[in-house]
Amino acid sequence: MTAQALLRRATGLSISKPVAERAVSQRMEQTGFSDRTVYLQTLTPSEMTQLIELVVVPESWLFRDPQAFYATVELVQERWARGRATRILSIPCAGGEEPYSMAMALRDGGMPKQAFSIDAYDLSPRCIERAQAGVYGRNAFRTQDVAFRERYFTHVTDDAYRIVDALREQISFRQGNLLQFDTASYSGHYDVIFCRNLLIYFDKPTTRAAIDKLSALLADDGMLLAGYAEVPSFCQNGFTPLQYRQAFALKKETAAPAATVQVLPLASAPTLRSVLPAAKRAAVLAPPSAPAAPRTRPVSVLAPSTAPAAATPADLLAEARLLADRGQLREAGEKCHAHLARAPEAAEAYFMLGIISELAGKMDLADDYWRRCIYLQPDHYEALCHLALLAERNGNHTAATTLKARAARIYQRRQASN
Ligand SMILES: C[S@@+](CC[C@H](N)C(=O)[O-])C[C@H]1O[C@@H](n2cnc3c(N)ncnc32)[C@H](O)[C@@H]1O
Repeated sequence: MTAQALLRRATGLSISKPVAERAVSQRMEQTGFSDRTVYLQTLTPSEMTQLIELVVVPESWLFRDPQAFYATVELVQERWARGRATRILSIPCAGGEEPYSMAMALRDGGMPKQAFSIDAYDLSPRCIERAQAGVYGRNAFRTQDVAFRERYFTHVTDDAYRIVDALREQISFRQGNLLQFDTASYSGHYDVIFCRNLLIYFDKPTTRAAIDKLSALLADDGMLLAGYAEVPSFCQNGFTPLQYRQAFALKKETAAPAATVQVLPLASAPTLRSVLPAAKRAAVLAPPSAPAAPRTRPVSVLAPSTAPAAATPADLLAEARLLADRGQLREAGEKCHAHLARAPEAAEAYFMLGIISELAGKMDLADDYWRRCIYLQPDHYEALCHLALLAERNGNHTAATTLKARAARIYQRRQASN
C-alpha cells in the first residue's frame, strides 16, 4: 500500500501524494531508514502516529468564529434555567483552543461549572498534550479583543500564557479518531457538538461517515456547530440549519433520515463535486437555499457520441464538469474557456477554472480565477469560501476573516429568503 493510502486509511484525511511522500521522507530521515518500501512495510503503530502528526492541520485559535460560542451559551443558559446540565463535545479540538473558548464564554455567561461538561478529542496526541498543558502564544490570541486573557490566563513568559486551572479541570481531553468513535456507548449523549474545520479535509464518503457518527452522538434535540464551509455537507446529510447569526449551527433533521436527503446520487449524475479534493469539497457544495450551481446532465447526454456539434454555453459548462470529474483537467479547462468565449461574464466558468487550477496544484491561478468569479458575481458563496480557505492556508488571516464574513452574510441572506 502507498504512503498516501496508508495515511488516508488511518486518518480519513484526503492527503495528497506529495504531502504523504514528504512526510515519509522526513520520518525516514529521522529514523535512519534508507529504503522506502522497507519503511512502509515495517510501520509500527507508534511510527504511524509520528507520520500522522506530519500531515494533520492543527490550526486553531481562541474564540475562532466566536458566534458559535455565544449561541451555545444561550442554549446552556436556557437548559440550566430548567435545571438541566449540558454535555458538550469538541471534536477535533486541536490544541484545546476551541473547548477553552467555550468554557470561557460559559463562565462569562454566568454559568456555574455544574451547568456543563466538555469532552474534547483530537486525532493528534501532540495536540492533546498541548491542550492539556493549556499554554498559548501570540498566535492563539488573534481576535481583536483579548480582554479574556486577563480573566482566564496567567502570564508564564514573554509570549506564553497558561489557562487557569479552574477551566482546565473542567475539560476532559482525549486522543481519538472521530471515524472510530464508539457511538454505541455514547448514542445521543451530547447536547452540543462542535465539529468545525475537519470535514473540509475529508472526501465525500468520509464526510458522510463522519456526519453519521456525529448524528449518532448528538441528542435528538441537540445542536451541532460546523465550520462555515461545512454547513452544506451537513445539510445534505440529515441536518438542517438553525437561525443563529454566523454561528453555523445545525440540528438533526428528524423528519427525513440522512439517507434520503442526498441532492444527487453520484452514480446517476456525476458532477465536478465527485472529483474535488477533500480540502475544498465541502465548500463547493452550495448551501441549501443557494442557487444551485449548474448541474451536469445525465451521462448519456454528455457522452462524446451525443455531444451536440454546436454546444450552447450551458452545455459547455456541463461538459467541463464531466471532464473534470474524469480527471481530464486540460480538456475541462478548454471547455470553460470555450464557454467564456461565448459568455465572457460567466462567473461560474471562472469558478470552475479555479477548481480545475486547484486540482492541478496551481493555487495562484485558482486564486485569480475565483477573484474574477466574485468580481462578476459578488455573492458567489462557493468562490468566497474557497478564497477564504486559501487565504487561511496562506496565513492571510485578515483577508480570510473578511471573505468568511462576506460568505456568511450571503449564507444568512439565503437562509432568510428561504
Ligand atoms: C483545523 S483543526 C480544527 C480545530 C478546531 N475545531 C477549529 O475549528 O479551530 C483540524 C484538527 O483535526 C484533527 N483531525 C484530523 N483528522 C481527525 C479525525 N479523523 N478525528 C479527529 N480529529 C482529527 C487534526 O489533528 C487537527 O488538529
